[in-house]
Amino acid sequence: MNEHDSEIMAGMLIEEGFQQVESRKEADIVIINTCSIRDNADKRFFGTLGQLKRRKKENPEFTVCVCGCMMQQQHVIDTIKAKYPWVDVIFGTHNIHRLPELLANIVAEKGKQLDVWPEGGEIVEGLPCERLHKSKALVNIMFGCNNFCTYCIVPYTRGRERSRRPDDILGEVKNLVADGVKEIMLLGQNVNSYKGIKTDSADEICDFADLIYMLNEVEGLERIRFMTSHPKDLSDKLIQAFVDCDKLCKNIHLPVQSGSSRILKAMNRRYDKEKYLELVKNLKAAVPGITMSTDIIVGFPGETEEDFEETLDLVRQVRYDSAFTFLYSIRKGTPAEKYENQVPEEIKHERFNRLVDLVNSISAEKNAAYAGRTEKVLVEGPSKTNSKTYSGRTDGFKLVNFPGNESMVGCMVDVRITEGKTFSLEGEVL
Ligand code: 5AD
Ligand code: SF4
Repeated sequence: MNEHDSEIMAGMLIEEGFQQVESRKEADIVIINTCSIRDNADKRFFGTLGQLKRRKKENPEFTVCVCGCMMQQQHVIDTIKAKYPWVDVIFGTHNIHRLPELLANIVAEKGKQLDVWPEGGEIVEGLPCERLHKSKALVNIMFGCNNFCTYCIVPYTRGRERSRRPDDILGEVKNLVADGVKEIMLLGQNVNSYKGIKTDSADEICDFADLIYMLNEVEGLERIRFMTSHPKDLSDKLIQAFVDCDKLCKNIHLPVQSGSSRILKAMNRRYDKEKYLELVKNLKAAVPGITMSTDIIVGFPGETEEDFEETLDLVRQVRYDSAFTFLYSIRKGTPAEKYENQVPEEIKHERFNRLVDLVNSISAEKNAAYAGRTEKVLVEGPSKTNSKTYSGRTDGFKLVNFPGNESMVGCMVDVRITEGKTFSLEGEVL
């Protein structure tokens, strides 16, 4: 979501006549869009900000803007004011559309700009966007989160749930397709609780599955993905959409967080291990070959060795294609911050390593089974390390590397998989 916000900010500034530069060193204006999800994101922000102080000293016209989730927390604003008073513009997650105006105020020497809204107002439609990829686009469908998982800062930084109107989403997707987009990623903290009100009939609610069925009809669009879905709200209707909608990719990111029902309760996740495994069983039965990924937190307060073994057991049962694994990180203002039974760092790390080993060995086994198959791949571009190697994603979101050339970018190509590695597949274009 932050990445998409950055695309929108870039779009707005380009519309104002600004230019994007490759390196921070060349920039006259720097905007740091912050993340708050874990402590290391916070730390990296202050490190980066500190590095800019010298530039500001050398050139007072050099403008530093900071925004994003961290700015929605008063303690962060207090720290910036006290330790980094030379920052020019501070704004939050709810008012990125105000960036051009805030910058204009700086140019007009109206002084430092602090504009952070505690809650989101009306959803602002029609903002420009400078996409990272030509052929795939991020599309917000809802903002905010009402779930208040006890470890999570998001409900405090992104506010309450608000859904865009289905007509606005449809209009945006059609424009994207006209602009060359083949794949869209529908974004929301909890897309399963999307509730859109139709413009022409206020009492007709469009739920998330309805939205997928609607977008599946868009001519020229080839792939639909979404993230993130909360297991407690994953409906049978959505599972059916995987069966009925040919454009909906057979892949789901379904964060489990823990395999222990006791810990899930303490996390306020509102499902237990059995319910989650049942969902996985239903998904796999309805959508043969569906690929799955997840998020797992290790070392939530009170997690015992037995709880952790429940997580390992769940991972063995589900056999995820991949998983994002996180060390629990205390977030200021969340209920779990106050929990007294915090797990010692060395235990967290030891469990984390065991989990990563298991997850990776399953990923490697699953990827190895792709050797010899032919997969449709949407080509994204050259790899960072080798300009002759191109990469793209399969329908199941597997990253594939293959010898390629610039003419393939943005195209859907058939790739014969020659080898499956832990984090990617190798192949050759047919
Ligand atoms: N500590 C560690 N991981 C966290 N996540 C969210 N909050 C925390 C935290 N306090 C993880 C969850 C979520 C993902 C985006 O980040 O797994 O799904
Ligand atoms: Fe955070 Fe839970 Fe909301 Fe996800 S569902 S954003 S983990 S509070």
